[in-house]
Amino acid sequence: MTKTVSLSVARGTEATGMSLQDFNVPYVEGMSVLDALIWIRSHEDPTLAIRYSCVNANACNECSVMVDGEVIYACTARLTPKGAKVEPLEGKTIIRDLVTDIVPTKEHLAAALKPGR
Ligand code: FES
Repeated sequence: MTKTVSLSVARGTEATGMSLQDFNVPYVEGMSVLDALIWIRSHEDPTLAIRYSCVNANACNECSVMVDGEVIYACTARLTPKGAKVEPLEGKTIIRDLVTDIVPTKEHLAAALKPGR
């Protein structure tokens, strides 16, 4: 019998409002929070919005999320059998689900296109 772990994952946008959705994911000791999120997207809900790039290299910072209230890199944070609540970063504009706008304001296209730059 496969052990499972429960994840409560924030879903939605700033326009629709956010809510938590629970998923049961097959648990493998040593798996990361990102492993579980990728499993959810591959097996349960392909619309789950997550962002990552380097996976375990701890170099891109794109997988940053809140896990049980702490800012972590989802690719390096180990999941425990008790599960986790995964939410987008606080204080950032939510694009959808766990994806936030992490681009510095001065690098936004609108700011780059301002006259005088
Ligand atoms: S995916 Fe790059 S730091 Fe996590």
